[in-house]
Amino acid sequence: MAKVIKLGFLGCGNIGGGVYHLLTEMHDEILKRENIDIQIKSALVKSIAEARTDIPKDIMTESADDVLTDPSIDIICEFMGGEQPAASFMQRALENGKTVVTANKMALALNWHKLQAAASAHGAGLYYEASVGGVIPVIRSLTVSLDADEIDQVMGIVNGTTNYILTQMSQQGRSYADVLAEAQKLGLAEPNPTADVEGYDAAYKLSILSSIAFHTRVTYQKIHREGITNISPDDIAYGREMGYTLKLLAIGKRAADSIEVRVHPTFLPNEHPLARVDGSLNAIYIHGRYCQDMMLQGRGAGDKPTASAICGDILYAATHMDNPTVPSFANTAEPDDAITFTDNWVCRYFIRLDAADTPGVLGSVASAFSAKSISIASLLQRPAADGRAQIILITHEASECAVQDALATLNPEIVRVESMIRVES
Ligand SMILES: NC(=O)c1ccc[n+]([C@@H]2O[C@H](COP(=O)([O-])OP(=O)(O)OC[C@H]3O[C@@H](n4cnc5c(N)ncnc54)[C@H](OP(=O)(O)O)[C@@H]3O)[C@@H](O)[C@H]2O)c1
Repeated sequence: MAKVIKLGFLGCGNIGGGVYHLLTEMHDEILKRENIDIQIKSALVKSIAEARTDIPKDIMTESADDVLTDPSIDIICEFMGGEQPAASFMQRALENGKTVVTANKMALALNWHKLQAAASAHGAGLYYEASVGGVIPVIRSLTVSLDADEIDQVMGIVNGTTNYILTQMSQQGRSYADVLAEAQKLGLAEPNPTADVEGYDAAYKLSILSSIAFHTRVTYQKIHREGITNISPDDIAYGREMGYTLKLLAIGKRAADSIEVRVHPTFLPNEHPLARVDGSLNAIYIHGRYCQDMMLQGRGAGDKPTASAICGDILYAATHMDNPTVPSFANTAEPDDAITFTDNWVCRYFIRLDAADTPGVLGSVASAFSAKSISIASLLQRPAADGRAQIILITHEASECAVQDALATLNPEIVRVESMIRVES
């Protein structure tokens, strides 16, 4: 006798539709492989009349209670997006002992401690593979395959929209505004692109990723976040000339009990594996004490790839109903007191200055850096209009505070700081 597993969907747009189609098309194969008969019982949407998917209308409902209180449903799949009401619906489901599968990084990153507490208290499972990197199996790789290792670095391209924009700017020398408008026309950027281009989406994902990698709760509030809206084609072009590619990276590093977590535009040497991840692809580079360097790459969005990851979670949940996976750390509202979060990380820096093209200016810049013990690794100088010059330099490793202090000592009437971009290797 096959085991029957009934699903209730909260939301059925892009991703809900993709999951419906995968489970319908693969139903018999899954039954054969796993002896599990997966049935989709109901799907919550805002409006049945205006539903955006072609799934049968008779399983759609406009009442969350129809899904949340149905005793026959085993697994609740959340594909609504946004923090609320998604988080409180998931909480109710877990409190009713239902296992939850979600793709919602925002609701999870902001409410994870409450959701995990509800899951653990009621013997339910909480699974979220698709919340970071779409189809890329990074959550399960870190939770299961690398569980015995000591991961000290995760560095990812986890937002396809910004990667598409930076790739186009880089390959075609176009402005941010121009490429964003095109991405919106192609449906690759939202009409309101803030969550993507200001780095919020990547920060939610980094909160989840680094918590799992470092076995401690890394709350969203601890993440330093900068977006790509101030990046100019000049920065990208000068970086390229010096051998670097610009990416929006989500970076987590741990050394003993100190953690740094940051999302910002970053130059990478052209030969770095992440530098070659273009367009809407996602990739996550991991370094650990034993695994050393590795990288996972794939589609970070789209209904089919995301559905593949979600359905993997559904099958895992269906086969582990009595012993759900729990995270390896205390999932508390605040980080562990023993951990310190630092904003004074060490890396190299790309700095572009607009300076008066007069004797002694370059010397004053060099002195400002050397006063803070920062040494310059490479430098370009290019004449600009009106007796000005562009000075572009890349430092050797320096601390964030030292670089900020050095830049603050420059006289803005003579040397204006146009951009400061971190460089990783
Ligand atoms: N799109 C991707 O490629 C991708 C990749 C990875 C993860 N995700 C995550 O997957 C989730 C879903 O994304 P999506 O692209 O499928 O979104 P979507 O197309 O906008 O679908 C959202 C669904 O939720 C329903 N919904 C939203 N708010 C509701 C409410 N208050 N009450 C009832 N129903 C509500 C919508 O109903 P209506 O149809 O009636 O509007 C729609 O069916 C998000 O958390 C997203 O971050 C998406």
